[in-house]
Amino acid sequence: MRTYEKVLLLVSLLTALEVVWSMGEPGEVMVPGSPSNVSKNDKGLAKAVLVATYFFNNQSNDAYLFRTSEVEKAQRQIVKGIRYILEVRISRTVCLKRLGRDLLDCELQPEGRLHQMFRCHFVVLSLPWLDMMTTTSIRCQQ
Ligand SMILES: *[C@@H]1O[C@H](CO)[C@@H](O)[C@H](O)[C@H]1NC(C)=O
Ligand SMILES: *[C@@H]1O[C@H](CO)[C@@H](O)[C@H](O)[C@H]1NC(C)=O
Repeated sequence: MRTYEKVLLLVSLLTALEVVWSMGEPGEVMVPGSPSNVSKNDKGLAKAVLVATYFFNNQSNDAYLFRTSEVEKAQRQIVKGIRYILEVRISRTVCLKRLGRDLLDCELQPEGRLHQMFRCHFVVLSLPWLDMMTTTSIRCQQ
């Protein structure tokens, strides 16, 4: 690799890291590599949960939309971006999918025949410098 290529690579790596590092809460040090707990009111977490929930709905062939009713565990790991590792409960709402309602306006099904809840493990990768978040893994059980 020529010197200018090395410099370019270094500059782009530093730019990427800088963006990642500045994504944390003020005063928080984010260590690359090891997963750490995310505060429940973290903005990035709320977005990651929503992205994974939309992905779940897109993959499910249920007639109703589901929404995340509880985040049981949330961790964040710095990898190629920020990886959110989530354990959530996701529950059936009263909104029929085909009506295309906004998920955030949908109430959960009351206890009864249509009530259903899954526990899911979601992994969402955030690439802040591309303004992109995608679900990379989803595993659910009843
Ligand atoms: C749902 O999945 C299909 C096929 O994978 C894709 O074309 C579509 O854009 C997805 N919709 C949403 C809302 O993610
Ligand atoms: C991280 O969160 C989980 C569940 O929310 C908790 O059990 C665990 O003790 C927390 N770990 C740290 C290091 O705070």
